[in-house]
Amino acid sequence: MQLSGKVAIITGAGSGIGRAIAQLFAREGARVVVSDYIEETGAETVRLIKEDSNEAIFVQADVSQEADVDQLVSQAINKYGKVDILVNNAGISGGLAALTDISAEDWDRVMAVDLKGPFLTSKRVFPEMIINGQGNIINIASMASLAAGRGGLTYTAAKHGLLGFTRQLAFMHGPQGIRVNAILPGPIETPMIERVLAVPQHPVCQKIRACPAGRAGKPEEVAKLALFLASDDSAFIHGAAYCIDGGYTIF
Ligand SMILES: NC(=O)c1ccc[n+]([C@@H]2O[C@H](COP(=O)([O-])OP(=O)(O)OC[C@H]3O[C@@H](n4cnc5c(N)ncnc54)[C@H](O)[C@@H]3O)[C@@H](O)[C@H]2O)c1
Repeated sequence: MQLSGKVAIITGAGSGIGRAIAQLFAREGARVVVSDYIEETGAETVRLIKEDSNEAIFVQADVSQEADVDQLVSQAINKYGKVDILVNNAGISGGLAALTDISAEDWDRVMAVDLKGPFLTSKRVFPEMIINGQGNIINIASMASLAAGRGGLTYTAAKHGLLGFTRQLAFMHGPQGIRVNAILPGPIETPMIERVLAVPQHPVCQKIRACPAGRAGKPEEVAKLALFLASDDSAFIHGAAYCIDGGYTIF
């Protein structure tokens, strides 16, 4: 088991990629703090993990709210005594509106979840990782972190920002034993893009068919990459950005 003895917080773990990461990390021996702002779905992830005879708790938290993030990390420490791994997975897509149709409130909401959230969680967990002598932060960014045309305006701006945050944080705190890396998924079969994937003539579906892989990815495939980055097998990897997109980004 690759994560024996480790404690991992995973945000947005009530669905999709976050749930798959939570289940895999638990199977690999981690004690998992499943967090989501929706109680029912987060509790369901914990139920699935316990059904497998593995260890997890649920803590409800909206990652855009500093008080929620504070109690998330406090509850993790109270229950398990430390935090080794933080996966900043919670995210929202924000839609594809034109510039003049995006309200300041819509802009702020996407930025608050997709960019400020990882800042708040990382900031809160950081002192605990320093006490622990090491830490591992994995940011679930996007292929929209690298190029235009992969998401809406606000989402693309937020995910570009998240990659910059990842690199700068890795640069600043790697010497203190904190590793920070980003995963950049392409289209993955989750509720976030299920409406797009349901329309075969949608331009995204057409491009998926033209990709080397010729299909959308599965949350479990992203989880395996997260496991690699969370494990000691990736000890020499700092500030990296791993595309997992079936080749979507290469053309
Ligand atoms: N599915 C894709 O094709 C795809 C592609 C690239 C990147 N991503 C990224 O992967 C991550 C996971 O997305 P997914 O596809 O699993 O989506 P999803 O909608 O299935 O899951 C997102 C989860 O985040 C939670 N969440 C939303 N806002 C929150 C908040 N403020 N606080 C706490 N939790 C919150 C939701 O309740 C949900 O459980 C996101 O960051 C997303 O941007 C997804």
